Amino acid sequence: MKYTVGIITLSDKGSKGLREDKSGPAIREILEADGRFDVLEQFLFSDDRENLERELVRLCDEEKLNLILTTGGTGLSPRDNAPEATLAVADRQVPGIAEYMRARSFEITPKAMLSRGVSVMRGSSLIINLPGSTKAVRENLGFIMPALGHGLDIMLGRDGECGSD
Ligand code: MTE
Repeated sequence: MKYTVGIITLSDKGSKGLREDKSGPAIREILEADGRFDVLEQFLFSDDRENLERELVRLCDEEKLNLILTTGGTGLSPRDNAPEATLAVADRQVPGIAEYMRARSFEITPKAMLSRGVSVMRGSSLIINLPGSTKAVRENLGFIMPALGHGLDIMLGRDGECGSD
C-alpha cells in the first residue's frame, strides 16, 4: 500500500501570484518518481500561521495522511511560521529527521544553519518542514528518502523490525 502524502508550499509571494511555486511540484515529482508515495493533497498557502495549523490538523485528523511535507517558512523572517505552526499541532517530536537534514546540508552550504525546520508526529501522520528553495527541497529529500519508508512503516505498524543496518 502506498504512503498517502500532502504537500504544502508556504509563500506569501506565491499565494499572491507574484512567484511561481517550483518547490511543491519538485517534491511531488521526487515522490512520484520513487513510486511508494501517493500525493493526495497539494496546496500553496500564504505564510499565515493559523491557516497552516488548521490545515495540518485537517490533513492529519480528517484526511489521515501518512506524510505531510511543507516547504518554505522555516527561516528567520518575521513571516516564517512553519516550525511554530508544526510544533503547535505536534503530539511527538521526531528531531532526528530535521537534525539529519541540517547535518547533511552543512556539507553543502553554511546557510543550512538558517533553516529552523522541525519534524514531528500528530497521531499517525509524520510532518516534516523543508526549506523553501527548489535546490534545498531536492537536497533534503535526497538525504531523508533512504530511511523515510522505514520510519513510516514503524509509525503505521506495518513493520516492527529494524533489520541490521
Ligand atoms: N538547505 C539545503 N540543503 N540547501 C539550501 O540551499 N538554503 C538555506 C537553508 N537550508 C538551503 C538549506 C537558506 S538560504 C535558508 S534562508 C533556510 O534554509 C530557510 O529557508 P526558507 O526560509 O525558505 O524555509
